[in-house]
Amino acid sequence: MVSEIRLYSESEFQEKAQQYSAVLFSRGVQVSMVQVEKLNARFLRLNPELALCVDGSGLWLCASGMKMQPDWVAEVPRLKRASLKSELIARACNLSEKPVLVDATAGLGHDSLLMACLGASVTLVERHPVLFTLLEDSLNRAKEDAYLSQVTASIQLVFSDSAEYLKQLNDQNQTVDVVYLDPMFPQRDQNQQAVKKQAQVKKQMQLLHMLLPEDGEMDLGDALLPLAKQIAKRVVVKRPRLAVFLNNESTTYQWSGDACRFDAYFQPGL
Ligand SMILES: C[S@@+](CC[C@H](N)C(=O)[O-])C[C@H]1O[C@@H](n2cnc3c(N)ncnc32)[C@H](O)[C@@H]1O
Repeated sequence: MVSEIRLYSESEFQEKAQQYSAVLFSRGVQVSMVQVEKLNARFLRLNPELALCVDGSGLWLCASGMKMQPDWVAEVPRLKRASLKSELIARACNLSEKPVLVDATAGLGHDSLLMACLGASVTLVERHPVLFTLLEDSLNRAKEDAYLSQVTASIQLVFSDSAEYLKQLNDQNQTVDVVYLDPMFPQRDQNQQAVKKQAQVKKQMQLLHMLLPEDGEMDLGDALLPLAKQIAKRVVVKRPRLAVFLNNESTTYQWSGDACRFDAYFQPGL
């Protein structure tokens, strides 16, 4: 996991950069601040290593000449088109019942944002300090947006390892309607179809894969499934369409789309 990272900013955003740097430090990330004259496409191309940057739109992850942030405001047109009928995720997570839902692998928060828009009360849990800080920044911007501000009332962020978080809920005898899991999936092995899809991943996913390297330390999330089943009436796992089951636990409850599928596990006793 990243424990040291550069943060680029132009002089007018130095104060902001310092604030982000302090927040990241409190989450275990050592930030080296670098003031640059022009934080433009040319600069990013000439400095391709993974880093952060700050500008008028907040905090960004950058690498290989690209910039990325979990831009929830940019999702608004897609959110406006979404409906309980048209979205597989809505059927898999039974969103028409307005569930209390824990997204234990928050990432960029896009799935959770959609689920919150369609009626769920969502707690997003993310353990990566840089991603969590990017998410928090995105949530704060969404609070200022006319369309998203209402949705943000049903969104809560938790900076934690989900294994710990789920265990804690279980120790406190708390249950939820749904735990949603979308752990990282390796770009190689498991099956060729997934490899082809992953080769076309969009910019955001490419940068996410650089931040969360798969060699050696990638955690594929298998351990989360048994923990989630202890506290959720329904656990929903997002997988590439032809991927193996999470934790090798099969289920016949599946909703499949072109690129991905949702596997559901029901605990009738809860
Ligand atoms: C594929 S991304 C999720 C993408 C997300 N569904 C979205 O819509 O943006 C997986 C994320 O889960 C996080 N993650 C994996 N295991 C975790 C754990 N045990 N606790 C908390 N976060 C975890 C990773 O850091 C990564 O950000």
